[in-house]
Amino acid sequence: MLRIAVLVSGGGTNLQAVIDRIEDGTIRNTEIAMVISNNKNAKALERAEKHNIPSCCISPKDFESREVFNKTLLRTLTDLNPDLIVLAGFMVVIPPEMIRAFKNRIINIHPSLIPSFCGTGYYGLRVHEAALARGVKISGATVHFVDEGTDTGPIILQKAVKVKPTDTPEVLQRRIMEEAEWQIMPKAIDLIAAGKVKVVDGVAFIEEETA
Ligand code: GRF
Repeated sequence: MLRIAVLVSGGGTNLQAVIDRIEDGTIRNTEIAMVISNNKNAKALERAEKHNIPSCCISPKDFESREVFNKTLLRTLTDLNPDLIVLAGFMVVIPPEMIRAFKNRIINIHPSLIPSFCGTGYYGLRVHEAALARGVKISGATVHFVDEGTDTGPIILQKAVKVKPTDTPEVLQRRIMEEAEWQIMPKAIDLIAAGKVKVVDGVAFIEEETA
């Protein structure tokens, strides 16, 4: 059984997709051990509660310094000892000591086809604004392992989504969530639970199902 911790900040629609796919059996052999939010008002916390999933809030605002917050987050996760940490819209910079402690055991979803529109400053609607400003005809989403760079870790899955001439950043954001994010994040977790994802020399490989 793959025990996962899901870290969230806001709406939690990716968390919801993971919950739904565990409940309908699409994600196999996986349980959510804990949902952790940095924001006590996150709708994601309500979603966890509704499905009887343990949850807690660890907010930088409640600590005297970022260092103490980082230590508390790391201690909470070390005590929980999940097999995988899933960043599902977590808007906090992951401290390097946490990345080292959970090497190739943290995954993130980014709303573009990495290496386009990623890295420092590319988050939320800014990603989609930049894609539209550049006039790309295809965008999408990427699930990747987290390393010490920003959006630079080994890529696990990507899914392309067509950009329409009428798209606004908000419309494109929503379509990428529906058509890509909510599909590839659950799929990546299922593949990891099945032991089908390996990282060799900084590149992730997937052993495809033969059946
Ligand atoms: C998603 O667009 C994700 O790609 C980004 O943050 C957003 C989270 O949305 N990293 P939600 O909280 O899962 O609804």
